[in-house]
Amino acid sequence: MDYSKTWPNLDESQIMMMDQINQFAQKTVAPVASHHDQSGEFPTENVKQMAEMGLMGIMVEEKWGGAGLDTVTYAMAMESISAACASTGVIMSVNNSLVCYPIQAFGNDLQKEKFLKPLASGSKLGCFALSEPGHGSDPAGLKCRAEKVPGGYKINGSKNWITNGREADYCILLATINPELKHKGICAFVVDTKTKGFSVNKLEDKLGITASSTASLFFDDMIVPDECLLGKEGEGFKIAMSTLDGGRIGIASQALGIATCALEASKKFASEREQFGAPIAKLQAIQFYIAEMATRLQGARLLTWFAAQRKDLGLPFAREAAMAKLAASEAAMWIATKAIQVHGGYGYTKEYVVERNFRDAKITEIYEGTSEIQKLVIAANELAKK
Ligand code: CAA
Repeated sequence: MDYSKTWPNLDESQIMMMDQINQFAQKTVAPVASHHDQSGEFPTENVKQMAEMGLMGIMVEEKWGGAGLDTVTYAMAMESISAACASTGVIMSVNNSLVCYPIQAFGNDLQKEKFLKPLASGSKLGCFALSEPGHGSDPAGLKCRAEKVPGGYKINGSKNWITNGREADYCILLATINPELKHKGICAFVVDTKTKGFSVNKLEDKLGITASSTASLFFDDMIVPDECLLGKEGEGFKIAMSTLDGGRIGIASQALGIATCALEASKKFASEREQFGAPIAKLQAIQFYIAEMATRLQGARLLTWFAAQRKDLGLPFAREAAMAKLAASEAAMWIATKAIQVHGGYGYTKEYVVERNFRDAKITEIYEGTSEIQKLVIAANELAKK
């Protein structure tokens, strides 16, 4: 996509950066995406090169090891990488939005020096551990326990569906000092995954984004020092919620990437595939699909960039991020479904990228808040407005 002449207005350095990212995505990431999808192999080389390009800490200030760029550029970079490989996209999104962000926003300088610098420069990888077996959409009631002990906290419990859980060096961990306090008892910690008592329990065998790990984590009398507490005791729920607001822009962008890939593949296929003596792109039925795919994609993209720009301007953006994620994830699922329809029987085989797009799109309607949760967030914001 040529960003140079349309909103958002990018400066020369952003345009150059996007050209570089698009080239990397198409020349390096896309050719190995099918291999990673089929083998489930973690895309180590992609992540290494993304780190060198500054993509693992895009919005982190340069003094803390990041690229010091804005959220709109992050959204475009996420779309570009995810159009090539959605697994690589979510690895990048979690590290940027769910790990670097809360340390940058709520951490002190010691935590930034120790954890944020290596995470933002990409020499270390992070995960975000909020969900539990019994607490997915409703994390306020989480059960993972943090007990105050001299000099730190003793943590016991488990977490589910943690992206990057197998590879992560550092983990943003949400645990409660008193479950009866509900969300007011939750604390956020930044934890080294090599700490005694931390273990990876189970890896999920998934429908899509197969090259990213989704793990269950287990904490058995894990002692973390006081210096690992992010913000103050009891602030963890708000830290997690505001972190997810930004995360939803990342996942919306991932969905845009998947949808872009499916649309481009459908346009190419429709121009080449002949039936009834002409390319199927000449058939109005196919043209209508292409038109609606492009329109839904562009509508979701504008919502995503709008949310990103509000975040950059320091304006409230929880409602806009939820709208962006709802629209983009549902657009991606719809577009991937129609892309298979355009491809006919070919689209149902692993030979064509739309089969992977279809499997990858589904998760964007689920993680970082299901579509139904996004509607709750939007409705709460709408109804609170006078
Ligand atoms: N920012 C800051 N604070 C917020 C907030 C936000 N976006 N949303 C709510 N809060 C505050 C409220 O103001 C309230 O504060 P007070 O006590 O001071 O009044 C407090 O948090 C509780 O708010 P609610 O009563 O609205 O909370 P709730 O329990 O009803 O939950 C919810 C609201 C929107 C449903 C929320 O639970 C939610 O977002 N659920 C989905 C969770 C989710 O997205 N999980 C995904 C996990 S990450 C992942 O997917 C894994 C991965 O690796 C990719």
